[in-house]
Amino acid sequence: MSTPAYDLEVLISAERIRARIAELGQEIARRQASRRLVCVGVLKGSFMFLADLVRAIPLPELEVDFIGVSSYVGTESTGVVRITHDLARSIEGEDVLLVEDIVDTGLTVRYLLDNLATRHPRSLQVAALLEKPARAKVHVPIDFRGFTIEDRFVVGYGLDFDGRLRNLPHVALLHPR
Ligand code: IMP
Repeated sequence: MSTPAYDLEVLISAERIRARIAELGQEIARRQASRRLVCVGVLKGSFMFLADLVRAIPLPELEVDFIGVSSYVGTESTGVVRITHDLARSIEGEDVLLVEDIVDTGLTVRYLLDNLATRHPRSLQVAALLEKPARAKVHVPIDFRGFTIEDRFVVGYGLDFDGRLRNLPHVALLHPR
C-alpha cells in the first residue's frame, strides 16, 4: 500500500456532528407547519448528512429524493452545473428541503434553487452541513446550517478528495505533504 500524499486533521468530530444534527432536526420539524417534507439530497456529497439528518427530523410524512449535479469545468466551481441525476418525482405543491454538504462559492445551490423553483414547490429551503462564507460568489439563503468554517479544503462525512475519503466519520482538514 502506498503512503498517502496528505495528512488528515480532525476539524469537526463525529460527536459534534451528531449533536448539531440532532438540533437541526428538531429545528426543521418545529418550523415545518405541515407534516409533509420532501428532503432532496445533492449527490454525492450529501448522502451521509442526509441519512443522519432525516433520522433526526420527527415528521411522519417525510420523503427522500436525490438530485445529482456536476460542474462542467475542473474542480473549481464555475456555476455552470449539469444535472446528472434528476428527481424521481414531481415536487409541485410540496415543501422541499434541499440538503447539501457544503456551500462554498454558492453557485451550485444557487443553480439548484433556480431550477427547483421552476417546478413550483410550495416552499423551498436549504440545509447545509457546512458553509465557507469567505468563498461566497453569490448569496444563497441557508435556512439550516450545521457549521461555518474557514476557507480550508475539507474531506470526510460525505465530502471527497478526488472521489475518496467520503467514508471518514468526521470532517477533516487535508494537508498536502
Ligand atoms: P459551490 O462552490 O458552493 O458550488 O460548491 C459545490 C461543491 O464543491 C460542493 O457541493 C462540494 O461537493 C464541493 N466542495 C466545495 N468545497 C469543498 C471542500 O472543502 N471539500 C470537498 N468538496 C468541496
